[in-house]
Amino acid sequence: MSDRSRPQVVLGVAGGIAAYKACSLLRLLVESGAEVRVVPTASALRFVGAPTWAALSHQPVHTEVWDDVHEVPHVRLGQQADLVVVAPATADLLAKAAHGLADDLLTSTLLTARCPIVFAPAMHTEMWEHPATRANVATLRERGAFVLEPAEGRLTGTDTGKGRLPEPEQLFEVCQGILTREAGGQGQDLLGRRVVVSAGGTREFLDPVRFLGNRSSGRQGYALARAAVARGASVTLVAANSSLPDPAGVKVTPVVSTRDLRDAMLEATENADAVVMAAAPADFRPATYAEHKIKKTDDVSAPTVELVQNPDILAEIAQHRPRPDLVVVGFAAETGDEHGTVLEHGRHKLARKGCDLLVVNEVGAGKGFEALDNEAVIIGADGSETVVSRGSKDQLAHRIWDLVSVRLPARPDQAG
Ligand code: CTP
Repeated sequence: MSDRSRPQVVLGVAGGIAAYKACSLLRLLVESGAEVRVVPTASALRFVGAPTWAALSHQPVHTEVWDDVHEVPHVRLGQQADLVVVAPATADLLAKAAHGLADDLLTSTLLTARCPIVFAPAMHTEMWEHPATRANVATLRERGAFVLEPAEGRLTGTDTGKGRLPEPEQLFEVCQGILTREAGGQGQDLLGRRVVVSAGGTREFLDPVRFLGNRSSGRQGYALARAAVARGASVTLVAANSSLPDPAGVKVTPVVSTRDLRDAMLEATENADAVVMAAAPADFRPATYAEHKIKKTDDVSAPTVELVQNPDILAEIAQHRPRPDLVVVGFAAETGDEHGTVLEHGRHKLARKGCDLLVVNEVGAGKGFEALDNEAVIIGADGSETVVSRGSKDQLAHRIWDLVSVRLPARPDQAG
């Protein structure tokens, strides 16, 4: 009997070598209090056997619709689930799901589920990029499934590329994010939306070993990316020099300097519905770059570094919007001074940059940058002011997406 007070999760496992990573995901889900039914395909059992799944989930494990027929498992599992997550999802499984095939317990469950379904694809780069797989992924996304972007890195064997299963901890975060929203009745308000987030601090190199940088950790931007995934968005994260792990399901574009960040942001925002500039780009860069390490000389006076100004990416995106309905969000890290309060500086900045929303937070003395918590006032070009009291960066991220979500134009399927 299932315990309805606990989140009911179906963990589908398709036949790929990454099935072994699903064991760790299963453990994390069970430890978080979820009741998990593992539904492997027959080929998944060639990689990890049924006793492993049964022992880790404390639940029976079936592959075919012919076991326990009196309980009609092919219908019941999907109907009762709060979340179905398929990890790894192979090219074959995605194809079957896209075409509505139902020849085993997992594919039947996918057809009966009325809850969010997450596919975490894992396969070789060539299979992921094949037009057949692209079309299947597009079909599943159109129907409202979350098809996460695979991670990049080592694949089976010695090759590397896009196609890795994201790490279990990252997949678990995605599941938790979706379950939390479902439990709160909030749903996936960013489903089908493309959002771009920047994170981290840029570096401006003086020579091959020295750079001008800043203290941004990237945490707020990463939290925004995770939160957007949990709300169904397709997310590009342009990450400047962050050491944080790639969030699951997010397309991560690493950059170094402000000019790299600008190029990546302009490209990524071309087809986007919303953009959030959470990165801290360096406003200035050295006027020249020395190809070789700058050496001390006998001359006791230190060399002078001449700086030139970097482009203002937020202002550029806000003022030359690739789409008129693009929602543009900036951050303002401020300290009050003799010219005005934190909020006055924020209002001024919002107008100067031309963005729709500006998240104003006070920095200095343990606030902002490396802190784990954040508090802010989100001001809108429409005069709105939303106070977000001290809480986690994930909480602030969700408040930001709440405000973005209501500013997005209705999707074609919502019109009328
Ligand atoms: N920003 C940007 N490009 C820059 C500098 C900042 O896009 N070259 C963005 C940041 O990502 C942030 C917002 O602009 O979303 C405000 O950043 P902040 O450093 O507070 O603003 P500045 O324009 O640098 O203003 P200030 O003179 O206060 O430093």
